[in-house]
Amino acid sequence: MAETEKISVMYTEEEVNDRIKELGAEISEELGGEPVKVVCVLKGASFFATELAKRITCPVFMDFICCSSYGSGTESSHEVKIVKDLDTDIAGENVLIAEDIIDSGYTLQYLTEEFKKRGAKRVLICVMLSKPDRREVEVPVDYIGYTVPDQFIVGYGLDYAQKYRNLPFIGTVEF
Ligand code: IMP
Ligand code: MG
Repeated sequence: MAETEKISVMYTEEEVNDRIKELGAEISEELGGEPVKVVCVLKGASFFATELAKRITCPVFMDFICCSSYGSGTESSHEVKIVKDLDTDIAGENVLIAEDIIDSGYTLQYLTEEFKKRGAKRVLICVMLSKPDRREVEVPVDYIGYTVPDQFIVGYGLDYAQKYRNLPFIGTVEF
């Protein structure tokens, strides 16, 4: 537990914050002043989602959801379950899912389908990071902060065994 891994900086705090400002501006323009519900996917997206929400100029409402993939072994199973659901109804609303990273794509595929079933007017997806080499299902991601290689990433909300979420930059773990 006290063991520490070597972390290399991939994107500095400044770079990430500047990129989030750009994403916020693009999203604001796309929404054209309409209200949006930013859905933060806990826990990893918590830092990203709140910074992104601050950069959106349309009326913003926030909600939070937590998902889990259950299964045995290290590879996550493809069954996504909601561990903590939204507190609010999304029928008829513009929903922007803010996620830390898209890997296999199963989490965002599940959430997109679920939110459409609940009657969202529109479901947009914004991820801080995308690992395209790992994709197993196609998901229409509208906004990507950075496309990254298949390395284990920590910081800015992302964890390694629950550690390093609070790093203010995006880094890689050297195993
Ligand atoms: P997927 O797209 O359904 O495979 O799930 C993506 C989730 O896996 C993310 O929300 C993260 O919680 C986790 N994840 C994937 N890659 C990484 C990584 O490099 N570092 C930390 N968490 C990761
Ligand atoms: Mg996550």
